[in-house]
Amino acid sequence: MGARREQLDVEADDEEGIDYDKLIDRFGSQRISDELIARMEKLTGKKAHPWLRRGIFFSHRDFELILDLYEAKKPFYLYTGRGPSSDALHMGHLIPFMFTKWLQDTFDVPLVIQMTDDEKYLWKGDIEKGQTLDKFYKLGKENARDIIACGFDVSKTFIFSNLEYMGHMYPTVVKIEKAVTYSQAKGIFGFIDSDNVGKHSFPAIQAAPSFPVAFPHMFGENNTEALCLIPCAIDQDPYFRMTRDVAPRLGWKKPALLHSKFFPALTGAKSKMSASNASTTIYVSDTPNEIKTKVNKYAFSGGQVSVDDQKKMGANLDVDVSYQWMRFFCDDDELLAKMAAEYGPGPVRQGDKMLTGEAKAMLIETIKPIIAKHQAA
Ligand code: TRP
Repeated sequence: MGARREQLDVEADDEEGIDYDKLIDRFGSQRISDELIARMEKLTGKKAHPWLRRGIFFSHRDFELILDLYEAKKPFYLYTGRGPSSDALHMGHLIPFMFTKWLQDTFDVPLVIQMTDDEKYLWKGDIEKGQTLDKFYKLGKENARDIIACGFDVSKTFIFSNLEYMGHMYPTVVKIEKAVTYSQAKGIFGFIDSDNVGKHSFPAIQAAPSFPVAFPHMFGENNTEALCLIPCAIDQDPYFRMTRDVAPRLGWKKPALLHSKFFPALTGAKSKMSASNASTTIYVSDTPNEIKTKVNKYAFSGGQVSVDDQKKMGANLDVDVSYQWMRFFCDDDELLAKMAAEYGPGPVRQGDKMLTGEAKAMLIETIKPIIAKHQAA
C-alpha cells in the first residue's frame, strides 16, 4: 500500500510494535469503552465477541449511532473488503471476516464485500512478473471462496469484484471523485507525482460501498437512509476518514467504523503479517503438520533465554506470539487466563512456569481445528 502503510509504520518503533493509543489521538477516533460494550450486550442479549472484550477491536467511529438504529429497529448494513494478494488467505486475513460474520449473526443485517482486484493491480501489478490484471481478478475469485467459507448469511450477503461491479456503482464513484480534490487525496494517502493516476482515484472506489446508493438492487434506487458499518483493520481508516468527510456534501450519511489492531506475524508482533513470506504466515490451506512445524520453528517467543530463568520468571506475554495468537483464536477466557498465569510473569503458584514449547503446543491445538473447519467449509 506504499505511502499509506509507511505513514502507519512510523508508529512501529518500539518492542511492543504499534502505539494504538497514539493512532486514536491522531486520527480522532473513539476508544471502544466498557460502557459501549455493555450497551451492546444489553441490546443484543448476547455476550460481546472476545475481540471486543479483549481490546483487539479497540477503536470506533459512530458505533453508538449503529446501536441507536438497532434499538429503534432501523436499517443498517455491513461493509468490508479484501485486496486479493495470494492464492490462499492467511490467519490474519480471516480476522475481519470472522468478526464480520459475528456482527451479521448478532444484528441480522445485510453485508457487502468488496474484492479490490483493481486496487491490487494498481499497486502490485507488474506485467513482466505475470502480475496482470487478469491474475488479480482470478485471485479475487479464489479468495472469495475462502471468504464465503466464513459462513455468511447467503440471502443477505453480496460479494463482488470491482472489475465486474464497477458499472453499477460508477455514479456513486464519480460523485465522490468530484467531491475530493487532488491535494486532499495527496494529504491523506501520501501520493506522489510519479504514482499512476489509478491510485489517485482508487480511494473513491473503496469509499463508494459505504453508501447504500451504490447497491440499488439491495437497497432500492436512491436509498440514502441505511447507515453503513465498516469493520476493518486500523490501516484502512484513511479511506473512511475521506469518505466521512465527503458524505455530508453529497447528502449521504457518514459510515460508522470498528477498527481492529493488526494481527502479529508469526515471527514477531512488530508488524502486520505479510502474505508474501510463507514462513511468517499460516495459511488457511496449511495441513496440521505444516501448522505444527511453522509454529514450533518460527513463532516468536517472549520466554526467557534459559530454561531455568523461564521456569522462575515466566515469559513476556506482550511479545510472545503463542500467547498473542491465543488472544485472537482461543474463545475460552478461562483457558487464556490460565495460560497467562502459568506462562507469563508474576508469582509461580504451583511448580515451575510453563515453557515456550508448551505454550506453542496450546496454540497449535487451538488453531488446528479452526483451520480444519474452514477447509471443510
Ligand atoms: N483496501 C483493502 C485491502 O487492501 C480492501 C478493502 C476494500 C477493504 N474495501 C474495504 C477492507 C472495506 C476493509 C473494509 O485489503
